[in-house]
Parts: sequence; structure tokens; C-alpha cells
Amino acid sequence: MYRGLWIVFCYTWAVTYGLPAEPEPSSEPTTPAPDSEFCSPLIIGHRGASGYVPEHTLGSYALAVFLGADYIEPDLVMTSDKQLISRHENELSLGTDVSNHPEFASRRRTQTIDGNEVTGWFTEDFTLAELKTLRAVERIPDIRPGNARLDGAFQIATFQEIIDLAKSLQVSQNRVIGLYPEIKHSTHFRTIGLPLEQAVVDILHKNGYQGASAPVYIQSFEINNLKELKNMTQLRLLQLFDSKSMSPYDQVQQGSNLTYGAMATPEGLREVATYAYAVGPDKSYIIPRDENNNLGEATSFVADAHAAGLKVHPYTFRAENNFLPTEFQSVDRNPTSIGNFTAEIQAFFDAGVDGLFSDQPDIPARTRSPCTK
Ligand SMILES: *[C@@H]1O[C@H](CO)[C@@H](O)[C@H](O)[C@H]1NC(C)=O
Ligand SMILES: *[C@@H]1O[C@H](CO)[C@@H](O)[C@H](O)[C@H]1NC(C)=O
Ligand SMILES: *[C@@H]1O[C@H](CO)[C@@H](O)[C@H](O)[C@H]1NC(C)=O
Repeated sequence: MYRGLWIVFCYTWAVTYGLPAEPEPSSEPTTPAPDSEFCSPLIIGHRGASGYVPEHTLGSYALAVFLGADYIEPDLVMTSDKQLISRHENELSLGTDVSNHPEFASRRRTQTIDGNEVTGWFTEDFTLAELKTLRAVERIPDIRPGNARLDGAFQIATFQEIIDLAKSLQVSQNRVIGLYPEIKHSTHFRTIGLPLEQAVVDILHKNGYQGASAPVYIQSFEINNLKELKNMTQLRLLQLFDSKSMSPYDQVQQGSNLTYGAMATPEGLREVATYAYAVGPDKSYIIPRDENNNLGEATSFVADAHAAGLKVHPYTFRAENNFLPTEFQSVDRNPTSIGNFTAEIQAFFDAGVDGLFSDQPDIPARTRSPCTK
């Protein structure tokens, strides 16, 4: 029943709000250049269309595709029986109804993850079958009260279910749908004997995603796992950048003082280019905000990354006032209201980004220049 509901929901949404132009039928290319099947800049549906539907659910990913996303972006964590599932965190209380399940009350515990003490319920303490008895809920209901009306509508999705969805919609949409998985908390999962990297590579290869032209990026905030992945697969890799003063957690653990800020210098980016195809910086690396929370001057980040041979896909673009520069917020200033998101997107397109992660993929898909792919 739920499956039927979300298909109807997504279809209704797409019909109401419009679809991007129909792709032209084209003859099958032999070995296409990476991303040549997509318009530019790339639109990555961040956790699906998480601005409209609870994140990381099949409904959210399906809607992202209908709204014109080129890629859908699942964050990946692991279950106790080594299944890859899509959740923003291995801690389950913000994104699911686990706290309403008395049968799991005793699983609540505290542990240190990436140096932070975290209390809650963790995916690694549950089998997939147990997690399938939970339901997804909206992570930020105060800002997205509409989404919260869908609390309980969706299960936790496995990575395989997401791959199956993408392959299914590729047929009905007659276009390529890319996968943009993020490996979460790599060091933590390795430490507890549930390393994610080989499992992610295996499932992608098994599903036919091979080589640098496959519509796949694998992302991580850590470094060593990306270097290992480079030895395990030719699929493209993306280095994520957290705030400048922070260090990737694998670096912290090995006593290195390497910060994301140092990795974002021209020398740092050249080093990243030895193992990654692209970089995913917080958008403030590209256009920082000024003291009035308006967009400031663009930095040289995009030019420096391009000079190092890296594509640039910043995160996260969100339409609500709460996340927008003051100058683009709607006049009511209500944090939940939608401001002039187009203006922010356009500023980053003008800054030369090659793609971006958005919770509302329809707006960037409409903002980019039409193309006939
Ligand atoms: C990758 O393979 C190369 C060549 O075999 C090796 O020198 C390097 O240490 C490997 N790197 C990782 C991170 O496993
Ligand atoms: C980081 O450590 C290296 C030596 O390992 C040192 O040369 C460098 O100055 C340090 N950088 C910072 C910002 O502390
Ligand atoms: C939003 O911003 C764009 C680009 O700056 C501008 O052309 C447009 O008029 C703005 N729309 C509204 C409703 O203010």
C-alpha cells in the first residue's frame, strides 16, 4: 500500500509542478565521456528530494528523479548483518520512529563516534529485518512541517532497493539516473568490524556499475578510505570538505593535523587530485557569506580545483529562508518559507560549479540552461 501511495504522490507532484523537457531519444554511445549523458551543471538530489519528502526514503529518491535530478544521493551505513542501508547517521532516533518501539528500548546506548559521544539507537545493533519494522520520520519537522505529514509512510531503504529504483526509473524516464553514495563514518564502521568500502564497491560492480564512465560517484569526508577505494575500483571518487578548521576523522585518529582548510589550498587540491575525481566542499568555500549573512565575493576555490583537474560539486542548497542568504529570503522572514532560491543557485552556477547537491532539485534543474540530453 505504501508503495502505491508514494508512486501516486510523486506522480501527482511531477504533473502539478512540471517536468523538465523530454529527453531526445539518442542512439547508444559506445564509451561515453563521464557525465556526457547529463546536462550541466549536474543536479544531485540530496538525500533524494528531502525538501519535500522525509530524506533517504524511496519516495524521496523517486521524487528527486521526477523533479529532474541527474543523480540521487544515498548516505550509507551498515546493519549488524552487513547490509548497506540509507540513513544520514548510524544513530536512528532523528530519522525514524525507533523510540516508539518498546521492543527495542534496551538497545539504546551511548558510544563515541568520530570523537563525539552519541546516545541513541545504532544501525550496527540491528539486523536488516529488525530495521524494516521501523518507519522513517522527518528529520527537521520544525522547518519542514509538510514533510512531517509523511512520517510513517516509508521504510528504511537498502542500497539495493535504491539501485533497483534508479534502474526502474531509467526505463520509464528514458534517461540515465546516476548514483551518488556517501560512505558515512568510515573509521567507526571499520573499528567495529563492519567496513563499508568493499561492500559498496561489490554491490555497485555486481549491479553493472564499472569504470570511470559509469554514472556513479562515491563520496567520503575521510581520506584514507578514498585512497583505498582508488585501488579497489575505477568508479569515480569525491572528497567532501567539512568546515575549514576541522580535520577528516581518519586524520585525527592517526595524529595528523591536516585540516579541510589546508586541503582546500591549491597545493592541497593537487594532492586530493591524486586520488579523487571531484571535490564536494561546503558551499561557503566558493562564496562565503559576509557579516550581514549575504553572499560575499567568490573565492578562487573553483579555479584552483579546476586547475588541479577536479570537478566541483558543493553542498547543500536548500530553498527555505532558514538556509538562504538574507538578501534572498522572502519578506516574511519565516524560517520555513521559501525564498528566492533561484538567485542563490544562479550565483553558484555563475561561480563555475560543475554540479550541486540540493534538497529541492526542481529549482536548480529549472535554473540551468536548457539542454537537449
Ligand atoms: C594502493 O596500491 C598501491 C600499489 O599497489 C600501493 O602502493 C598503495 O599503498 C595502495 N594504497 C592503499 C591506500 O591501499
Ligand atoms: C602540522 O604538522 C606539521 C608536522 O607534522 C608541521 O610542520 C605543521 O606546521 C603543522 N601545521 C599546523 C597548522 O599546525
Ligand atoms: C530572484 O532572483 C533572480 C535572480 O537574481 C531575479 O531575476 C528574480 O527577479 C528574483 N525573483 C524574485 C521573485 O524576487
